[in-house]
Amino acid sequence: MAALDGLEQAVAEISAEMSGQTDRGKVADYIPQLGGVNPDQFGLAVVLADGRAICGGDADTAFSIQSISKVFTLTLALGKIGDSLWRRVGREPSGNPFNSIVQLEYEHGKPRNPFINAGALALADVILSGHRPREALGEILRFIRHVADDDGISIDQGVAISEQETGFRNAALANYMRSYAMLDNPVEFVLGVYFHHCAIAMSCRQLAMAARYLAFSGRHGPDGRTVISPERARRINAIMLTCGHYDGSGDFAFRVGIPGKSGVGGGILAVVPGRASVCVWSPGLDDNGNSRLGKIALERLSRRMGWSVFGA
Ligand code: DON
Repeated sequence: MAALDGLEQAVAEISAEMSGQTDRGKVADYIPQLGGVNPDQFGLAVVLADGRAICGGDADTAFSIQSISKVFTLTLALGKIGDSLWRRVGREPSGNPFNSIVQLEYEHGKPRNPFINAGALALADVILSGHRPREALGEILRFIRHVADDDGISIDQGVAISEQETGFRNAALANYMRSYAMLDNPVEFVLGVYFHHCAIAMSCRQLAMAARYLAFSGRHGPDGRTVISPERARRINAIMLTCGHYDGSGDFAFRVGIPGKSGVGGGILAVVPGRASVCVWSPGLDDNGNSRLGKIALERLSRRMGWSVFGA
């Protein structure tokens, strides 16, 4: 295992290597507001047990966290209804694109896992129950601000509206699930909560800070405040590893070897259990909708630091 003092150099070198890359993937444009993001950006932040952040590139630029938000809504939904969540959503990799509808028909409206869009709609439904949409969103935002230790985090309303105006597939998924009685709340409320939590804007530094509870057995750091139980943190990490990159999850495990969750804004949140939480961002995506340079950067970082959970 490489010493952590090699980390600052690794972060600086990888950030420099990424700034020189020409094949950066394609920025998501199916949400029009995301299509205008400059693809020449790259940020990397690593937060250690003592709360220190090692950052490179555009680590302080806020971007649309998109599906990374599902890690936080999964944490909240489990906090609200515990293991009965698994009656509403499965925990197997889907092997399908994040917005696929085909599997829902075979599986009677029960989403394969919490990170595909259908699964995240089920999470939004759980969080929404007993609340108005505004309150449910407030709860999600409060939780993220709490774990990130940052009250400045907010929703990008332009992205939320853009998503709402073009989210025909998500509307189809939600209606389909509702037809199987797999949603308890009105479809438009569930979609509203989902679109808005995907539109939260955060930087790599803020996201890496927020994920400390997953890296350190449910606590902000080895000696920090408790957010969730160690067992729950371990299980969320397992789902990130197996399902966090949709139909690219196997390749991410093969190349990077740590739990991670991507978003179509180009961010990837990753967890090195017991050592660090990491966030990388580059807006250009690969064919599976995962950040192209983000994955390459994490592969290099994990290899240099000996961080793969599968061994050196
Ligand atoms: O539902 C959507 O299409 C987006 N709000 C989230 C998709 C996403 O980030 C998938 N991740 N790679």
